Formats: sequence, C-alpha cells, structure tokens
Amino acid sequence: MIRKHPRYLLGSLLVGALVLGACGSDDDSSDATTDATADTATDTTEAATDTTEADATPADGGTITVYTGRHYGIEPVFEQFTTETGIEVRFTTGNDPELRERLIAEGANTPADVVMTADAANIELSAEAGILASVDSAVLTEAIPEELRSEDNDWFSLSQRARVIIASTERVENPPTTYAGVGDPEWQGKLCLRPSTHPYTQSLVASLIIAEGPERATEIVQSWVDNDPLYINSDTDIYKAVADGECDIAIANTYYLGRLLTEDPDFPVEIVWPEQDGRGAHVNVSTAAITANAPNPEGALALIEWLATDGQQLFADANFEYPADPDVEPNEIVAGFGEFTADLAAVRQLGANQPAAVEILSATGYE
Ligand SMILES: [Fe+2]
Repeated sequence: MIRKHPRYLLGSLLVGALVLGACGSDDDSSDATTDATADTATDTTEAATDTTEADATPADGGTITVYTGRHYGIEPVFEQFTTETGIEVRFTTGNDPELRERLIAEGANTPADVVMTADAANIELSAEAGILASVDSAVLTEAIPEELRSEDNDWFSLSQRARVIIASTERVENPPTTYAGVGDPEWQGKLCLRPSTHPYTQSLVASLIIAEGPERATEIVQSWVDNDPLYINSDTDIYKAVADGECDIAIANTYYLGRLLTEDPDFPVEIVWPEQDGRGAHVNVSTAAITANAPNPEGALALIEWLATDGQQLFADANFEYPADPDVEPNEIVAGFGEFTADLAAVRQLGANQPAAVEILSATGYE
C-alpha cells in the first residue's frame, strides 16, 4: 500500500520551485535523450562547477560520474548533494538500455561510478550483465524496503510510480479497473498505448506474466491489440490524447499527471487504480547502483545513500514519483491521487520476465 500523506513539509517552497523547473523537460528517458550522452556530460559538469563556485565552495570531496536514465529535475538534486557533501557530480543522460550497453562496452575503463535507471527490468539486466557492484550498506537496507532493492543489494529503488489506467473525466463513466478490462471490445478504437519497444510497456507485460502466467498474459495483450490502439511513444502525449478526445482510455505512469496538473489543475483526465481487488497496480521504479568498475566507489555510495535519505524528498519531488522510503511523504499533488494497493512483490522479478514479455508483444502484433 502506498499511503496518502496530506501534510506538507517545511521545505516545500524550495521543492516547489524545483518541481516547476523540472516540468519543462518532457517525457521519458527513452525518448528524447539518445544523442544527449557525451555532450550532456560536459555541459552538466560545467554547470555544476559554476553553481558550487557561486554558492559556496564545498570541501574537496572528489568527483563522481553518473550515467542516468532518470533525468527529470535531476540537476538541482545533484547540485544539492554537492553543496552538502563537497562531492562534485558529472552526469550523462540517456535511455536505460543504451547506458547499459555503454557500460558493458567501456568495461574496466568506464568513468561511471553510478548508474541510474527509470525501469526495474533494465537495472536487473545490468546486474545480470555483471556491471554492478554489490553494496553492503545498513543505511540503504534500512531506508529502502526489501521489495524495492535487489536480492544481492546491487541495485536500490529511489522512487516508485504506478502504471495505471487513465480515463477522460468528460467521456468515460465506467472505466476498466483491471489491465484485462482494457481489452474489452467496449474500448475498440478508443484506446491509446505506449509502443512495445518502450521499457514501460515491457515491464507492464512482465508484471502480467508474473501475476497471471504467460498464457493469460498473452490473451490480455492480444485483447489490447484487437482493440486497434493508437500507439503513442510519450506518456505526456498519451495523457493529452485522452484529454483531447483521440482516445478515451489509456495506460500511463502516474507522475505525468502530476506534471500536467501543475500546469492545469483542471486537466480532464483521471487515474483509475487497477487490480485493487487483487495484486495491486503495476509499479515500476527509478533505481541507482554502483558500477562494478567505479573509479570512486566511496563517492558513489555517498550519493546513493544521500538520495535514499537526506535527498530522498528532493529526488522524488523532482520527478513526481512516490519516495521509495515509505516514511517520506510524496509531493502534495501526488498525495492527492489517493491511496492504492501496489504490486510491489513483482518489482524484483520484472527483469527476469522481460525477455518473455518482449516475445508476447511480438507474437500478439503489439506495435
Ligand atoms: Fe517516464
């Protein structure tokens, strides 16, 4: 259960400013940032240096390099870490699979100390590829619930979000309440979905396999495909398509609604929490890990521990996700979405089931 916490925090003014700043960047790690890698690293390093010189000169805590597939509002988060610890952060953004391939190719020569992903399956696939270090940290095991970190403690979730059914508040009276219900013929020609190549889709189908078995998962995905969905490779655009009437229902991540509601409090799309009589809504996570060949593993651990504790609120608020630490409050708008049951048990298994999910997506003709 992810709980609703109505109370606000002392730091909300500062955090609010950062959140608004983060809304300008659109959509996903896997969409827009493919060619932003090396150049971005150089740019952001300079930005971080400028900031620290302007504010206060931190003690020399060294430098760490981060490859991150989670990029919403990340720069002020890293800047705050530098201010508090004196450790400079260089970072490179890209999509999760691309950053994994880069780490594998760089091997022992990688400059990356930390890798962050927007998807649980992708970090687990990195663990299987042997490019992550196992971490012995009481700080992390105390802050992050067991379901939200790997069995070997080689990756840790920092925040979480549900991939839910969304529906027009103007045209839909009885939206589906299960993922299978999205395949009801009632939604023929009225459904928007993210394409099969996106990790969010693959992890959603992996969660269906875990919960329902491969045969039933295949039937469910086939029923979606049979509804002739409009495939849109941006959750923000999916939300807007539901608002604009291109489709009536869709499947999308919760945090995009947080961002859209910041711009327009009357945005005419609502969240429908799926599977509330059973396993709960499919949850995916933003993660961090220390790379196996990290040049500065101490600095890497300091960053991840900070993101899981002192920086947890700032990190989760910057991307409108739910904090991984259940004792930390979600952003006010996110808290307003209400309580729901989350399928946390599947998070660790998403990576192992991702190849089968890709097979089902291909076999059913999901585009
Ligand atoms: Fe996203």
